[in-house]
Amino acid sequence: MTDLTHRFTGHAALVTGAGRGIGAAVARRLAQEGARVLVTDQDAPEAEQTAASLRQQGLTARALVCDVADRASVEAAVTHAVDAFGSLDVLVNCAAHCSPDAGAKFEDDPDESWARDLDITLGGVRRCCQAALPHLAASGRGAIVSIGSVNGLMDFGNHAYSAAKAGLGSLTRTLAGRSAARGVRVNLVAPGTVRTSAWEGRDDDLDAVRDCYPLGRVGEPEDIAAAVAFLASRDAAWITGTTLVVDGGLTSVHTGFRTAMDGSRGGPG
Ligand SMILES: NC(=O)c1ccc[n+]([C@@H]2O[C@H](COP(=O)([O-])OP(=O)(O)OC[C@H]3O[C@@H](n4cnc5c(N)ncnc54)[C@H](O)[C@@H]3O)[C@@H](O)[C@H]2O)c1
Repeated sequence: MTDLTHRFTGHAALVTGAGRGIGAAVARRLAQEGARVLVTDQDAPEAEQTAASLRQQGLTARALVCDVADRASVEAAVTHAVDAFGSLDVLVNCAAHCSPDAGAKFEDDPDESWARDLDITLGGVRRCCQAALPHLAASGRGAIVSIGSVNGLMDFGNHAYSAAKAGLGSLTRTLAGRSAARGVRVNLVAPGTVRTSAWEGRDDDLDAVRDCYPLGRVGEPEDIAAAVAFLASRDAAWITGTTLVVDGGLTSVHTGFRTAMDGSRGGPG
């Protein structure tokens, strides 16, 4: 029977964009469950800070700078993980880029911001998967989990970022098909709004969207880390190519429609 608290004992994991936010919570969750974790981020001090805080808790973690936009940097990170830990069992792709487009006219969106969102958010995952796949296949229990978004499923703005996140759904399925025979599972987690530094200084926005969430709150990084850990673990041994939506019911329950119906009927029905 699986030890639910230590599903990753003996496993080695690499997490991108793990200097803060969801990536840092994923690194913490995997390490708490026994994994040796390479914490990577384009921001060196943030990566080191995450890894140091894990080591302070007696967990096994190293930090390395890795920019997922740069193939050489990605390949060096994968090599570092394999050299340091002897294998690579889990890859979690958290790094992404979202150009601000609030209020901007679609016609005015520059090619550069479209290219950057696609290159980091979608291309970065592709690069990391390409570099890690041979090692994940060699491990015999390899798993890739990428972080998508509800933006890839419905319109929540930011069209370039959203297109990239939608592309991750497709990449997840095709890569799952290609790598199943090599024993590597590939899945995607699609979060709704999660309280991270991506929302820094926007507490009013977080308060404003809270009522859109049927479960009554926005997400916390740990909500997403729990789903990632499940999909990366043996508990998900028969799950590949799927998108697990973790969004407090946002995309399943139409709050406005339900409120209108309840109102016209004079009560819940
Ligand atoms: N916070 C949300 O509401 C939310 C919702 C849905 C999906 N997501 C997704 O979750 C993931 C993490 O988001 P977050 O909210 O924790 O963001 P965050 O800004 O708190 O952290 C993102 C981290 O990624 C790093 N990063 C950015 N570009 C990078 C690159 N090129 N190479 C390596 N690292 C890079 C940053 O330095 C940072 O440490 C992203 O894929 C994001 O799209 C977030």
